Amino acid sequence: MEFTKKILITGGAGFIGSHVVRLFVTQYPNYHIFNLDKLTYAGNLENLSDIDQSPNYTFVKGDIADTAFINELFTTHQFDGVIHLAAESHVDRSISNPMEFVITNVIGTVNLLNAARATWGCSKDSKVEGKRFYHVSTDEVYGALGEEGMFTETTAYDPHSPYSASKASSDHFVRAYHDTYNLPAVISNCSNNYGPNHFPEKLIPLCINNIKNNKPLPIYGKGENVRDWLYVVDHARAIDVIYHQANDGSTYNIGGHNEWTNIDVIRLLCKIMDGKLGRTPGTNEQLITFVKDRAGHDLRYAIDSTKLQNDLGWKPSLQFEEGLEKTVDWYLANNQWLESVTSGNYQQYYNQQYNR
Ligand code: NAD
Ligand code: DAU
Repeated sequence: MEFTKKILITGGAGFIGSHVVRLFVTQYPNYHIFNLDKLTYAGNLENLSDIDQSPNYTFVKGDIADTAFINELFTTHQFDGVIHLAAESHVDRSISNPMEFVITNVIGTVNLLNAARATWGCSKDSKVEGKRFYHVSTDEVYGALGEEGMFTETTAYDPHSPYSASKASSDHFVRAYHDTYNLPAVISNCSNNYGPNHFPEKLIPLCINNIKNNKPLPIYGKGENVRDWLYVVDHARAIDVIYHQANDGSTYNIGGHNEWTNIDVIRLLCKIMDGKLGRTPGTNEQLITFVKDRAGHDLRYAIDSTKLQNDLGWKPSLQFEEGLEKTVDWYLANNQWLESVTSGNYQQYYNQQYNR
């Protein structure tokens, strides 16, 4: 089959990336989707087992920080578009090992920018048509809010963790390549995602797993920090709309208008799971354990996504309670997934599938 476009999605074996790959592979059979992933602890090809035999899907194992490999990949395939999600994504890990975040999030991103620029012949004197570099970023680049206000696309960057500093740096490089070389780039900054395939080191899947196993639920500080939660499939839908419709050089904020303190999220989760597991109401709440706070813990995030809603007509499709219940159902039905990502069996699965 002749494909109309070749699109490289990086980090497609991770949480959000796998939902983006699935959406593009199923919604655009005329696009050839390449999923480039290093398969770190966070990458898992089982996330894509329902679509990995599709004729328009190809998996490539590799590291975005490997310059020679990235240059060769772009030369071989001449991609028309890049949707860049590969990253080290966990704030706590960035506090204990910041350099990995610099290497993947900053150097890896600049490698991709250089390869796209060279492949597309971008320069300040001319504009390339029909190409797109989409950089997926986070609301954490804006820093922390007090009790009032929301992040808009013009809020000044003020990152506090090594993770958010590395993402902010990568955003600056993407804008610099647009402004300096006319690279046809767009950026989006999204709030906290939740849903199926979320790695169980992050708050919601960690607590689902711990409730299931009757283990303590570690809440940092007093649980008063606020996050704005968005169902992961709604993020993937927003990426689709922005990829196809945004102007070069533009930025969009993506969020759920759905602010919750951590303690309220976990109380709701406990209640949902009391019902699902047939436990007496109030049982799971007893697992809540307040622990030492995260260093530099941002108090509150809240995204104003009015621009995306008004310009491109996107809006979230799910209410939080409904999305959280769906998420719990997925984890309870996919015990094997949880066990394999937490036990290290995953490498065996990969070796069998790919005969390596
Ligand atoms: P994740 O940690 O679940 O997945 C990251 C993926 O990138 C994994 O598959 C991993 O194997 C791959 N990867 C890591 N280093 C790599 C490298 N050097 N080369 C190639 N692949 C590599 O992350 P996620 O939560 O799905 O986040 C995806 C993107 O979205 C990130 O850029 C993150 O900053 C951004 N983001 C995440 C959230 C969220 O709530 N999770 C919100 C806003 C933005
Ligand atoms: O806002 C978008 C960001 O959301 C993304 O850019 C990041 O990649 C993603 O990991 C997420 O960052 P957070 O730090 O907000 O997510 P996390 O799940 O680690 O924590 C959510 C909140 O819960 C935060 O206030 C810290 C708190 N927390 C977290 C963990 C893991 C706890 O109280 N206990 C925990 O054990």
